[in-house]
Amino acid sequence: MLVAPSILSADFGNLARDVEAICEAGCDLVHVDVMDGHFVPNLTIGPVVVSAVAKVAAKPLDIHLMVENNTFFVELFAPLKPGYISFHIEEEKHPHRLVQKIRSLGIKPAITLNPHTPPESIEFLLADIDMVLLMSVNPGFGGQKFIPSVLERAKRLKALIKKHNPDCLIEVDGGVSDQNIQELKAAGVDVVVAGSYVFGNKEGYKHAIDSLKV
Ligand code: DX5
Ligand code: ZN
Repeated sequence: MLVAPSILSADFGNLARDVEAICEAGCDLVHVDVMDGHFVPNLTIGPVVVSAVAKVAAKPLDIHLMVENNTFFVELFAPLKPGYISFHIEEEKHPHRLVQKIRSLGIKPAITLNPHTPPESIEFLLADIDMVLLMSVNPGFGGQKFIPSVLERAKRLKALIKKHNPDCLIEVDGGVSDQNIQELKAAGVDVVVAGSYVFGNKEGYKHAIDSLKV
């Protein structure tokens, strides 16, 4: 299992310190939640802050866009050379075009599905993307309760991925902890995002990250 701590739960007064610490603790990706106050009822960070994160991150950035104007934000973040950019399928009229644009910028394209969105809705995009992000909470906030139906969605998605693009990864985001990591693994999940579990862990970041590497 690859682990992508969400910096939404980091100490924003000490962001560089926290990003360096999770990378030293062995995370695989640094998950960055970009919210615009329109697609979701919360507002987070833009390219000025994320470029400071990129400077100190020893691991690739995994940018999760939760915005209305995806193309605008892709262009804004592309110069920071993130590993992945994901956008929500519910908010994109031309997903195939945007996938091609992200790839042309040298970034791995990923698509995010809200908890109600069936995996079959992106069946014919799977051949062109590197990762699918399944939300296991409603997007907008850290620290929410895990929605267990994501396990069934992950299994259905895995079957489609085997058919169309076996290299495509499944990432799950929201309410992930040591309490559900085994079920996620069994459902075929490859990458987990964890915010409050990693940054709020009393035994430290390394303990938290290691406990998710099943
Ligand atoms: C929610 C974000 C998540 C969030 C996860 O919209 O996409 O990345 O930070 O936080 P936890 O792990 O606390 O649920
Ligand atoms: Zn996220």
